[in-house]
Order: sequence, then C-alpha cells, then structure tokens
Amino acid sequence: MKFGTIGTGWITDAFIDAAKSSENFMHTAVYSRTTDKANKFADKHSVRNVFTDIEQMAKSSEIDCVYIASPNSMHAEHAITFLKQKKHVICEKPIFSNVKEWEEAHQVAEENGVYLFEAMRNIHSPNFTSLKDNLGKIGNVRSMSLHLIQYSSRYDKYLQGENPNIFSAEFSGGAIVDLGVYPLSVAVALFGQPEDVSYFPVKLKSGVDGNGTLVLTYPDFTCTILCSKISNSYNACEIQGEQGTLIFDDAGEINNPRLFKTPSKEQVTLETVNKDNNMVFEIDQFNRIIETGDDHKYQELKNISYNVLSITEEARRQTGIVFASEK
Ligand SMILES: NC(=O)c1ccc[n+]([C@@H]2O[C@H](COP(=O)([O-])OP(=O)(O)OC[C@H]3O[C@@H](n4cnc5c(N)ncnc54)[C@H](OP(=O)(O)O)[C@@H]3O)[C@@H](O)[C@H]2O)c1
Repeated sequence: MKFGTIGTGWITDAFIDAAKSSENFMHTAVYSRTTDKANKFADKHSVRNVFTDIEQMAKSSEIDCVYIASPNSMHAEHAITFLKQKKHVICEKPIFSNVKEWEEAHQVAEENGVYLFEAMRNIHSPNFTSLKDNLGKIGNVRSMSLHLIQYSSRYDKYLQGENPNIFSAEFSGGAIVDLGVYPLSVAVALFGQPEDVSYFPVKLKSGVDGNGTLVLTYPDFTCTILCSKISNSYNACEIQGEQGTLIFDDAGEINNPRLFKTPSKEQVTLETVNKDNNMVFEIDQFNRIIETGDDHKYQELKNISYNVLSITEEARRQTGIVFASEK
C-alpha cells in the first residue's frame, strides 16, 4: 500500500514512523502548501514525490491511500478529493466537522469502492481490547468517569493574542472535538449510542470550548466525560460496576488497565501490549480491513465514528458552538 501524507506537523511524523512497522505500508508522497516545506518534509522522510497541489496528488499513481492530518475544518474537502480518485483515506480525528460532511464523504467512498477510516488510535489498541474483554467481570455498570485533560502549549499562544487553529471556530477546533473524542470513542465503542447527551462547556472568546463536561445517559448508568485544553489532570479513568471497577490511565492511550474486585478490593493487572507509538495498532487494523475486505469490522468502525461525531455535534448545538463552515 503506497501512501501519501497531508500535513507536516508532529502527528504526521508519528504516523509515518508507525507505518514503518507495517511491511505493507510504504510512504511515497508528501503534500504541503509550500514547496519549501514540502521538500524539507520529503527529504526528512526520504520520499521522492512532492506535491503542493492536492488535486494532482489525488490523481497520482504513486499513492493508493492518503493519511490526512490537516486542520479539522479541511478534512472533508481533502478526504473527498482523494476518495473521488479511488484512494483509500485515513483521516485524523475528529474525522469531520459535522455529520453532513461525514455522510457526504462516506457516500463518495462507497461510490468509488474505497475505504474511509478515522484515525482514532485508542480503540484499536490491545489495551482497549483487554478492557473490553474484562467488562463482564465488573457486573452491571453503574457509573463511568473518563477524561482527557491536557494543557495545550498552543493555549499560551492563544492567551498572547494569537488564534491557533485548534482554538479557532474557523478551523473547527475546541476541547470536545480535539480531546473529548478520545474518551467519547471509548464510551461509544463499549456501550454504543447513549439515550441522552448534555454538554457543559467553558467557552473561550474565540467561540469554541476550552474545556467541558459531557454527560452521556445510558439506560442503567451515566458516563461523565471531562475534556480540557486549558488545565491538567492527574486522575485515572474509571468504569464502575457492581462487582468491580476497571481503571486505566490516559484515555488517548489506555495505559495501565487494571481491575479492582468488589467487595474484596483485590487488584488484578490486565494484560497489556504497550508500544511507544500506539498508531501502529490502527495501521494494522486499517491494513487488515483493506486486505481482507472485513466489512463487519469496517461497519463497526463507521458506526463508532458516526455516533461520536453526532454526539459532539449535538453538544455543540446545545451550547452554541458553531464552526465557521456552518454559519
Ligand atoms: N491522533 C493523534 O494523536 C493526534 C495528535 C495531534 C493532532 N491530531 C490531528 O491531526 C490533525 C492535524 O493536527 P495539527 O495540530 O498538526 O494541526 P495544524 O498544526 O493546525 O495543521 C496541520 C497541517 O495543516 C497545514 N496547515 C496549517 N494551517 C493551515 C491553514 N491555515 N490552512 C491550510 N493548511 C494549514 C500545515 O501543513 P503545511 O503547512 O505543510 O501545508 C500543518 O502541518 C488534526 O485533525 C488533529 O486533530 C491527531
């Protein structure tokens, strides 16, 4: 699978690095808006094909697949351009700004017989599978508290009067779509679509949320999700059941999952597979689906991606967070 990359930030470096672990994935092309940056990035990764025109790159026979790590607001336009040229698309989270874009892009993918994946790395990790496999041991779930709270260095820039993409409504930024989607994907991948959603954000002057509390109502329990780009947390995530509690660190990585039994309080460390770069797991998954045509898994991932996006869209609707492209 020959893949090209869009975006020249650290996350693209990380994806390229992770792809090296897959025999099937070969980095063959880069795109940047400027020739100078494109050349430098291509040199850094020893790639020959350099593009500053997205349409030309999409038409190139040098790629079968593209990894998109552009600002959130541009994902849909970029993805659709490549899908129309029958290239598989791996798009960074949050996949799109809203459900309308999701439906349009998936229709184009279907019409052209190619795959469209959201690069939501946590739910592809063996540690997530381990969590899922142990859910049955905690009995009826009664409460969940998940979070991803990380002070962003770009917030310093925001406070100094700049408007970084990730704090901007123009580029579909904000805490829930940038960080909230990780714990939200865990909740949705484990328990499906909640019955009800309520969002309580702290809104910044830029119009997006700097942090927020999202409450998901399931038939027998509620799940509280905290996300923030303007503070730090040192707490673990918990799924509390009547017969035990599952705990893990960092909803983006699902690190150190463990189980505390009720009532004995005995602690059991769950089986884990840790990699320095957990993007290797999503790459393996996407590669396997493309190779084997595993439609069942593809539909499952599509549903998670759709449900997560519809929840963040509803959360924004409730609280008046409107992206520029929606005005
Ligand atoms: N999975 C993860 O763990 C993870 C981590 C971080 C980020 N992400 C996701 O990856 C994506 C990129 O994040 P990022 O922080 O790298 O974003 P970013 O810095 O805002 O922009 C990404 C790339 O887009 C181009 N770009 C920047 N500003 C632009 C503009 N105004 N108009 C058009 N293109 C522009 C730049 O590439 P050129 O200048 O080369 O064109 C840049 O490298 C986001 O969707 C983010 O959510 C995922």
